[in-house]
Amino acid sequence: MSKTSNINRVDGFAKVTGSATYSAEYKTPGVVYACLVGSTIAKGRIKTIDTKKAEWAPGVLAVITHLNVDKPVGYQKAKDKHNFGQPLQIFKDDSVLYYDQPIALVIADTFERMQYAASLIKANYLKEEHSTELKKAADKEKKVETDKGNDYHRGEHDGYKNGQVVLEAEYTIPTEVHNPMELANIIAKWDGNKPILYTKSQGVEGTRKSVAGVFGVPIEDVEVHSEYLGGAFGMGLHTWPYEIAALIGAKKLNRPVKLVLHREQMFTNVGFRPYTIQKMGLGATKEGKLTGLTHEAVAMTSSYEDFMEGTVNMSRFIYDCANVSTRYRIVPLDTCTPIWMRGPGEATGSFALESAMDEMAHKLNLDPIEFRKLNYAEKDLEQNKPWSSKYLLECYEGGMERIGWKNRKNKPGSVKEGDWLVGYGMGTGTFGSYRNPTAVKAKFLADGNLVLQCSVNDMGPGTATMMTAIGAEITGVPAENVIIEMGKSGLPKGPTQGGSATTSSVGSAVHDSCNLLISKVLGLASENPSLKGIAITDLTFSNGVISSKKDSSKKVDLTSLLTANKLEGIEVENQSKGTEEAKKYSIYSFSVHFVKVLVNPNLGKIRLAHVVSCADIGTVINQKTSAGQMYGGAVGGIGMGLMEALEIDHRFGRPINNNFADYHVPVNADIEKQEVFFVNKKDPISNPMGTKGLGETALVGMAPAIANAVFNATGKRVRDLPITLDKII
Ligand code: MOS
Repeated sequence: MSKTSNINRVDGFAKVTGSATYSAEYKTPGVVYACLVGSTIAKGRIKTIDTKKAEWAPGVLAVITHLNVDKPVGYQKAKDKHNFGQPLQIFKDDSVLYYDQPIALVIADTFERMQYAASLIKANYLKEEHSTELKKAADKEKKVETDKGNDYHRGEHDGYKNGQVVLEAEYTIPTEVHNPMELANIIAKWDGNKPILYTKSQGVEGTRKSVAGVFGVPIEDVEVHSEYLGGAFGMGLHTWPYEIAALIGAKKLNRPVKLVLHREQMFTNVGFRPYTIQKMGLGATKEGKLTGLTHEAVAMTSSYEDFMEGTVNMSRFIYDCANVSTRYRIVPLDTCTPIWMRGPGEATGSFALESAMDEMAHKLNLDPIEFRKLNYAEKDLEQNKPWSSKYLLECYEGGMERIGWKNRKNKPGSVKEGDWLVGYGMGTGTFGSYRNPTAVKAKFLADGNLVLQCSVNDMGPGTATMMTAIGAEITGVPAENVIIEMGKSGLPKGPTQGGSATTSSVGSAVHDSCNLLISKVLGLASENPSLKGIAITDLTFSNGVISSKKDSSKKVDLTSLLTANKLEGIEVENQSKGTEEAKKYSIYSFSVHFVKVLVNPNLGKIRLAHVVSCADIGTVINQKTSAGQMYGGAVGGIGMGLMEALEIDHRFGRPINNNFADYHVPVNADIEKQEVFFVNKKDPISNPMGTKGLGETALVGMAPAIANAVFNATGKRVRDLPITLDKII
């Protein structure tokens, strides 16, 4: 274990003491306060909107609606297509496309006056019939033009039907919402024609691009700050209409405008995990060899934007099976556009696949892990490539031992602890390990500090800590002397934080830039009088001192070297990206979640007695932050399995439980014992550190593990998440 592998979270103190500045907290002289008023119907047109009372209310500076808005130039340029990335054009016209769609922006000189004025706005509508229920609209399903990969066949189409043993089942997952603690929030202002945003985004560069498109300004003119995030889970992967509204307001008043969504708006205006219906077909020999696998998904999207995700992806490669078919369709509904939510489609898909695998194992009277081992994929049959590394078997073993799998009986309901039925279940997870081009600047200062700069931001997994650990490891600079500058435009361009790709992308760039920086230092040192005549290859850099490998008395320290050259610092900026060699391999992370549940069959109560999450994520850069992510992801999966569902009153197309009292998420008391285990073996291909992705695979496979454990305890198969007590009594 290296000395940096367990450093504390470098931004932990700032975050827990409140000194970390979130978007809406920036001290901005002259800032004014805005909020959005939402429609009270799910579909139709605004017949009249009365803003007079609000406009006359004390302190009100502007009320903006479709009737008086200065439409951003990008609205005209937008293509008349539903391609993802063209969000709702706020205040474009009188149409209402979903419940709580913003219909007015109210800006006042104080927060209280803004709220009061907003309460005075009244609208009348021409209502149209809305459609918010996927099950009733499934006949409207469509295949997206740009979807090249989801209609997939290997071997015989729907070959599962020819299996000696056949299983067909349908699974549903409801809409779930991200709802990070930090609300969606922005301070927007303009410097002439240049937009400046302090906003909650997972991608500084992505936000710049979207805003540039809407307002018709060069990308380089858009300034974005998103330095600290209080969670996001995927909701920050889109630039949302509220951000555009704040910019429109700031432009009109030529003043900074602060806009914070209220909690109810977090359920309606910034995306969600889409309601999805899945059909599985599995065929196997009597001995348990899979002969066919079909996975179909139908998911909701909005009426104006086609959102797709990787729901059926995992089924194409995770098991060794000759005949595989996958299909994916979407149905436009009258809601806001969905967005990736942690583990995204893969987590949704794993619920169907890993539940069906459990059902098939039961049919075959096989232990679920034995059944999976019989169908272990030695290579990726979808891409026909070898795995870069795969320690899935180690995850199975590690979890079986920790959870006490040997106590499991194949026959449901056969283990008891007092009045409680005991069940054991597991689910496999996987997620692609991506590496995106990333630029990082590394700089030694004369005072011995190392500065690392990248525009990437950190929604919580510990990106700054990872950068610090890698920078410290390579340069030998103590972690406390590494200064991270990130999360704003103007820094070397980093990727969006998403798809579990940040460590592989940014970590590799830190690695490469730090090595180049050392080379540059050695080059400079070789010309210093104290090292004159020594070849660069015979020099070494350690703890801030450059010395001869052969004669350690010949040395110069970095500070003296910089002073001698009249330099305040020495720096390199470099862009790193994936290698051609890596393209020859299939690079995935793997996880297996194990749970032990106790079920009271009379009360329907489910207790999570023990949860173990095991993962092969290549090298673990930092045990603390990685384990933190794994615990958190697993808890997200537990919410998905047992609690989370956004309930819609379809008569009105609006949510019922749009608050934290009614929308349940797990808390500490819900999980009696939780463990995390990493195989921690370096991937030889993925990147210089040998890491693979972590964030998503921390969740993928958890919900089915719970469903499978509940079945093992009770004999009741719940195919419709979440597994609430009404479904098992
Ligand atoms: Mo993640 S769902 O890519 O934020």
